Amino acid sequence: MDPREAVIRDRFSSVRRVVAFASSKGGVGKTCITCASALALKELGHRVGLLDLDVTNPTAHIVLGIDPKSTEIEEEKGVKPVEARGVEFMSPALFTHGEPSPLRGGEIHDAILEMLSVTRWGSLDYLLIDAPPGMSDEVLDVLRYIPRLEFVVVATPSPLSIDSARRFTKFLLDEGARVLGLVENMGSGSLESLCKSMGVRYLGYIPFDPELDRAIEEGRIESTRFYASVREICRSAFHSL
Ligand SMILES: Nc1ncnc2c1ncn2[C@@H]1O[C@H](COP(=O)(O)OP(=O)(O)OP(=O)(O)O)[C@@H](O)[C@H]1O
Ligand SMILES: [Mg+2]
Repeated sequence: MDPREAVIRDRFSSVRRVVAFASSKGGVGKTCITCASALALKELGHRVGLLDLDVTNPTAHIVLGIDPKSTEIEEEKGVKPVEARGVEFMSPALFTHGEPSPLRGGEIHDAILEMLSVTRWGSLDYLLIDAPPGMSDEVLDVLRYIPRLEFVVVATPSPLSIDSARRFTKFLLDEGARVLGLVENMGSGSLESLCKSMGVRYLGYIPFDPELDRAIEEGRIESTRFYASVREICRSAFHSL
């Protein structure tokens, strides 16, 4: 057992639920949905944290409007997350100050382990994790260290992604991971039957929103239809539990 496993368990002891947003395919909307969910759960009255674990290409800070070049992190018995619109936020970008970090194989494993073991979360109802795309066994191995971790699978109804969503969900279930459900992004409800066939909860769909990118650029994701859809999903998937 890696000694950091016990450290990680301790770091997460102040967090009630940890939920990773994941997909096997890249570019399906994980980062936007994780950030919007964090802001929505906060709006619904919860204490929320967000951890970007996409160590090679972190982007959550862009959606949350954090400039890693001008953001200092405080180190004291670990690293304190920064505050982003009422959400406790930690990202590899805060360490690299926005510069790219070309990592490979074992280095990715180590970087994730390091993030999990140094971050000193406050008392949180939800810690949401923006997972890297194409989650390999290696990433899943590290995520196993997180106690009570739940997954939300993000998928789009594109014919190119449905099959990978099915395989990925099956992979998680076969690994014994807790799958809270599946969110259909840029769709209108067509993945509900896929969920039924796999015995996975369908959490709802988010339509394509042509305003999303501009709103992110202007730091006002909360004003979008995208956000309203995510908030509804959060209300039914998390808030009621
Ligand atoms: N519902 C939507 N409507 C319109 N555009 C969307 C929607 N969801 C996501 N996008 C856009 O799709 C692009 C990819 O989104 P995002 O970066 O969140 O995906 P990702 O799954 O995190 O990607 P990666 O796998 O590279 O981390 C972004 O430009 C985002 O603005
Ligand atoms: Mg992403």
